[in-house]
Amino acid sequence: MPTLVQPVLPEPRGPISMSVVDLLAERAQLRYLTRVETSLADADPAGLDVQLALYICYELHYRGFAGVDPGWEWNPGLLYLRGRLEELFLEDLRRGVGHIGPDVSALEELDALCVEPLQGNGPSYFLRDEGTWDQMREYFVHRSVYHLKEGDPHAFAIPRLTGQAKASFVAVEFDEYGAGKGARLHQQLFTDLMAAADLDTTYLGYLDTVPAESLAVVNVMSMFGLHRRWRGAAVGHFAATEVTSPPGSRRMVAALERLGAPQECAGFYREHVEADAVHEQVVRTDVVGDLVAREPGLDQDVVFGIRAFGLVEDRLAEHLMKCWLDGHSSLRRPLD
Ligand SMILES: [Fe+2]
Ligand SMILES: [Fe+2]
Repeated sequence: MPTLVQPVLPEPRGPISMSVVDLLAERAQLRYLTRVETSLADADPAGLDVQLALYICYELHYRGFAGVDPGWEWNPGLLYLRGRLEELFLEDLRRGVGHIGPDVSALEELDALCVEPLQGNGPSYFLRDEGTWDQMREYFVHRSVYHLKEGDPHAFAIPRLTGQAKASFVAVEFDEYGAGKGARLHQQLFTDLMAAADLDTTYLGYLDTVPAESLAVVNVMSMFGLHRRWRGAAVGHFAATEVTSPPGSRRMVAALERLGAPQECAGFYREHVEADAVHEQVVRTDVVGDLVAREPGLDQDVVFGIRAFGLVEDRLAEHLMKCWLDGHSSLRRPLD
């Protein structure tokens, strides 16, 4: 079966995403040098309309959408709107993250992340101890808007790095990209997981199904990756992802074994228990350590990236747990 390379444009979920979707239906003509002036007065930065609009704008830099003029990627009128959405999102992240004092250091922040409680109340603990197979499948769907492009958002940061930080960053990305083997691309391993769980394996096939919280998890990394100004935050986000991955993945393996899930499902997380244990060390010393030694002015940005990662992950976790404990689906459209 040939796989669809480009995703289908999702349905808009409010006036802002509507203005983006409507625009993309047209050809990217020169007259769109004029700014796309959509009102953001009542926009909720963490809400579905803003997060979906941002996700669509960013996707133009990844695979684009079937039937959408590739010229939109660098259209100044649309980039103007995206810039305003990013301002809103950043403000919301800054508020959520709080003040970062001058005495905080990225390496100390990472060390603190390494200490994981044995008992927690997040989704991976819940899935390990009592979650159902249906809830597990929902979890895969939420994560699919990231894992099907795993490695890609951070890859935008590569040209902005130098020296050892760059070499080690790429070494970790090399593993994310299957170390030269297409079948071992983490994106492919997640596709295999989706197939084994009887879910749609189409790239972004669930874009219309996931809530704002799942989109924000990816939007934050796209935003950091696409702005040179945020390279410190991109590295912080990358580091936080790698450091928290082994313990979280270990709980997922335990959950999948308890549920008797197909091998491919546990396989994806097993890969992350093993590979990321090595990545954790590389990222801490050779990526973050080298970057902040080279550019000490980025230390606070790295911390911002680490905390922004925590913030959007916590919001998704809170959403999932609220829905599951209330006994309903965490998706906008329940799976059949
Ligand atoms: Fe991975
Ligand atoms: Fe990794």
